[in-house]
Amino acid sequence: MNVLGIETSCDETAAAVVVDGTWVRSNVISSQVALHQAHGGVVPELAARGQVQAIIPVIRAAVEAAGIANEDIDAIAFTQGPGLAGSLLVGVNAAKALAMSLRRPLIAVNHLEAHVHANWLAPPGGDDTGIDPPALPAVCLLVSGGHTELLHIDEPGRYEVLGRTIDDAAGEAFDKGARLLGLEYPGGPAIQRAAAGGDRARFQFPRAALGQSLDFSFSGLKTSLLRTVEPYRMPDDGERFPSTALFPEHRPPRYRDDLPLADLAASYQDAIVDVLSTKTVQAAHQIRARSILIAGGVAANRELRDALRRCVTEAWRGGDGPAVRWPDLGYCTDNAAMVAGLGFDLLQRGIRSGLDADALPRFPIGTRVPPA
Ligand code: KG4
Ligand code: ZN
Repeated sequence: MNVLGIETSCDETAAAVVVDGTWVRSNVISSQVALHQAHGGVVPELAARGQVQAIIPVIRAAVEAAGIANEDIDAIAFTQGPGLAGSLLVGVNAAKALAMSLRRPLIAVNHLEAHVHANWLAPPGGDDTGIDPPALPAVCLLVSGGHTELLHIDEPGRYEVLGRTIDDAAGEAFDKGARLLGLEYPGGPAIQRAAAGGDRARFQFPRAALGQSLDFSFSGLKTSLLRTVEPYRMPDDGERFPSTALFPEHRPPRYRDDLPLADLAASYQDAIVDVLSTKTVQAAHQIRARSILIAGGVAANRELRDALRRCVTEAWRGGDGPAVRWPDLGYCTDNAAMVAGLGFDLLQRGIRSGLDADALPRFPIGTRVPPA
C-alpha cells in the first residue's frame, strides 16, 4: 500500500511515499534554512509563505521519485500539529485537496508521534526484508526544537509521558546556545561541528537534576553560557543579548579572537547530552525497557547517540541492557516519510480523518482527536 505523507509543521516542506508503513520509496525535503538564517531563527510569516511556494513542486517530486502516478497513491497522511499555524494549514489543505480529488482516505498525524515512528522505518538502501521493529516496552527520548519528552511506549500508538522539559526544549538549548556563540541557525549541527576537537571538561555548565524526577530544565544552562562568554565580548558590541527572531535582522555577537569556541561548544553540548542520557537510562530502569529509542531533530546528534550507548553499557554490565536505537539520520529531522509511515499504521488500526480536519498548532502527543 502506497501512502503519501505531507509534512509542513515548521520551515521544511516535505513529501514522501512509503510502502506498507516501512519501505521509503521517496523522501523529498525542501528546506528554508537559508531564508531564516539571516534572522537567527524561524520567522513564522516567512515560513508560511515558503510553504505555499514549495508544496506543489515537493509533492510532485515525491510522487515522481517513487516511480508512481497520482492514481497509485492509496492514502494520504498529513501533519495536523503541533507546529506553526500558517505552515500547518498549507499541508492540511494540500492533503485534503488530494484526498478529495483522488477519492482516497485521509489520515491526520501528530508530528511528535511521527518522530517516534521514524524508529519503525527501514533505513534507506535495504532490500525490503528483515527489519526488526523495536522491542517493547520502550523508552523514547523525544528531542526536537520545540519538545523534550521521555515517553513510555508499551504498545504501538500508546504513550505515557514520564517526564518533559519545564522550560526550554533540548533543541532550543542548542539553538539559543549557538546564537550566543555567534554560530548559525540551526544551532544543533553548528554546535556539534564547532565542538569537534574541543575539551568538554574545560567549562562546568550546570546540569539540572530536578531531584529524582524525569523532568528536564535547560534555561539555567543558557544563562551560564551567557555569563561565561561575557568577558570575551567586544567592547563596541552594542547589544548585550543577540537579537531574537522577533527582530527583523539578526546581528551575531562579536567576540575577541581568543574566545575558546571549540571548548565552549564541547562543554555546552556535553551538559545537554549528559542530562538527556542520564535521565533516559533512569527511565529505562524504571519501566524495565527492552529498548531505548531516540527521536526528533536532536536525535541526529552524534554525542547523544554515543553517550546513550555508553551509559547503557555501564549500567547493565552483564550486557543484558536495552537495545539503543535511532532512526536513519535523514529521518531524525523533519521529514514526511515518518508521517506516511505512521499514517499507514493508523489506517491499519481503523483511524482516519474527515475532510473537515483542521490544523492543531497545539497537539500534545497521545491525545488523539476522535475521527470525524
Ligand atoms: O525535529 P526537528 O527537525 O524540528 C522540530 O520539530 O523542532 O528538530 C529541529 C531541532 C533544532 O533545534 C536543531 O538545532 C536540532 O533539532 N538538531 C540538532 C542536530 N540536528 C538538528 N541538535 C543537536 N545535534 C544535531 N546534530
Ligand atoms: Zn519535528
